[in-house]
Amino acid sequence: MEKLVERIKEQGNVLDEGVLKVDAFLTHQVDPHLMKEIGNTFADVFKDKGITKVVTIEASGIAPALYTAEALAVPMIFARKAKSLTMNEELLTASVYSFTKQVTSQVSISKKFLSKEDTVLIIDDFLANGQAAKGLIELCQQAGATVVGIGIVIEKSFQSGRALLEDMAIPVVSLARIASLSDGEAAFLEGDA
Ligand code: G4P
Repeated sequence: MEKLVERIKEQGNVLDEGVLKVDAFLTHQVDPHLMKEIGNTFADVFKDKGITKVVTIEASGIAPALYTAEALAVPMIFARKAKSLTMNEELLTASVYSFTKQVTSQVSISKKFLSKEDTVLIIDDFLANGQAAKGLIELCQQAGATVVGIGIVIEKSFQSGRALLEDMAIPVVSLARIASLSDGEAAFLEGDA
């Protein structure tokens, strides 16, 4: 997605250790126009898959996931990282290990929102080692739902996430693919859409 790549070039900052800061439009301040285009792009790619729910994880997955869900006219569910006081129903729960933070956290979704009747599109802001997406796939599997695709806004192709997800035979569509983040510069591969 040309416009996304341009925005990363203009406003992204490469931090040490292969981390890209995109807080001007995605992970802190959010650009609704860009998010809408991202949502429309994912919806266009997956429109014939019979999707009934879009699933993401808080916090930064929510904006692109919501616009995707709007474009597909289905609900969006975000997995929670901390148990909310009002989450008193039965939960689907998975462990997610963050290589970045070196901690394992529990992510959960209320059982009542996902069932075996659901066909799910997973959306997330970043794909690094794929642990967040793997956790979301586990939650869907626990519910008996079918995951038909994963839409990623920014893939760091030099990390292992894409291979992990492709090994699970789930199609991955990334709008921007980054080959390397060295010398303060992002080098791009061709995106999937
Ligand atoms: P993984 O899910 O692909 O295995 O990623 P990893 O454990 O390495 O990353 C954990 C968190 O860091 C995730 O967000 C992920 O989206 C984010 N992340 C990974 N690489 C980058 C990067 O280069 N730049 C930025 N800005 N974020 C990155 P999170 O902790 O769940 O945060 P949030 O969604 O609540 O903001």
